[in-house]
Amino acid sequence: MTEISGKAAVVTGGGSGIGAGLARRLAAEGARVAVADILLENARRTVAQIEAAGGEAVAVHVDVCERESIRAMKDAATRALGPVQLVFANAGATSFTPLIEMSDEDVEWILHVNLLGTTFTTKAFLPDMIAAGGGHICATASMAGLLPGWIPVHAPYSAAKAGIIGMMMNLAMELKPHNVFTTSYCPGAVASGMKENNGTYRPSRFGGPEAKAEVTFATTDTTHSSLRFYHPDDIAPIVLNAVRHNRPFVFDHADQRRFFRETYSSVVEACYDDIEAWEAAHGLPEANPYGAALKQD
Ligand SMILES: NC(=O)c1ccc[n+]([C@@H]2O[C@H](COP(=O)([O-])OP(=O)(O)OC[C@H]3O[C@@H](n4cnc5c(N)ncnc54)[C@H](O)[C@@H]3O)[C@@H](O)[C@H]2O)c1
Repeated sequence: MTEISGKAAVVTGGGSGIGAGLARRLAAEGARVAVADILLENARRTVAQIEAAGGEAVAVHVDVCERESIRAMKDAATRALGPVQLVFANAGATSFTPLIEMSDEDVEWILHVNLLGTTFTTKAFLPDMIAAGGGHICATASMAGLLPGWIPVHAPYSAAKAGIIGMMMNLAMELKPHNVFTTSYCPGAVASGMKENNGTYRPSRFGGPEAKAEVTFATTDTTHSSLRFYHPDDIAPIVLNAVRHNRPFVFDHADQRRFFRETYSSVVEACYDDIEAWEAAHGLPEANPYGAALKQD
């Protein structure tokens, strides 16, 4: 179990949408919360909501695309609240533009803010978590990372979010001896500021805020569950419950359970036949404890 009450927590991207919902819920459950965002005014707004409800929070500026800024956020959060044991690496931005039409800077931005931003945020807080004897990292990935066939025109975003899932699952093994756990939250569709504000988050090193800020969704199929939006305050308790129980994943949109099963069972059924036939004919490759060095003839 991961206790939430009494802990210091940080939520990146806490100024809006899912992150603001997580920050409010963390405070309601008794955590002290550093609300970190590239738009400091929005982080302050979340802090004011938390304080009005009787919780404890502090607003901190961060651009997760800058390692120095992440270190400064970590120092500010720790000074204000003590060592942080709950990290919600949630800041992110999206794109629904075909890869071929994206500028190279936008491709770099989407990969950087989502994947490297999460990676360096995680890395910055790990030493303190380990020193404190435990902690939890919950990274906001996406259904677009877990099921990249779910919604189209999302290539670099899907790649970055799949990368987050890979990192969280792999880190779980590395961090288990330290009592630090990981969770990938894979939102399907949650009402947030992203549709209107996405482009305003683009840091200057990737070209600065975009004129065309609004995100256009890639589907108009109203039966597609990506067009049914949860409220962040409905989802936050579900995410925190998964963290409390150290679950590796959190999902929304229960109907995706079927799509998830179909996607992966069809991959398993379709893609192992050739190698199974090869192994039946030749046997298994020899075990080699020294690695797979290829013998050159
Ligand atoms: N809303 C959804 O349906 C949905 C679906 C899948 C994944 N997600 C993921 O959820 C997370 C939160 O997004 P949201 O939907 O709440 O959108 P949002 O736009 O409301 O929130 C994103 C927050 O991240 C902040 N941010 C952006 N770039 C930043 C940077 N470089 N440094 C620090 N902060 C930065 C923004 O200022 C904003 O407050 C993102 O990682 C997003 O990819 C959302």
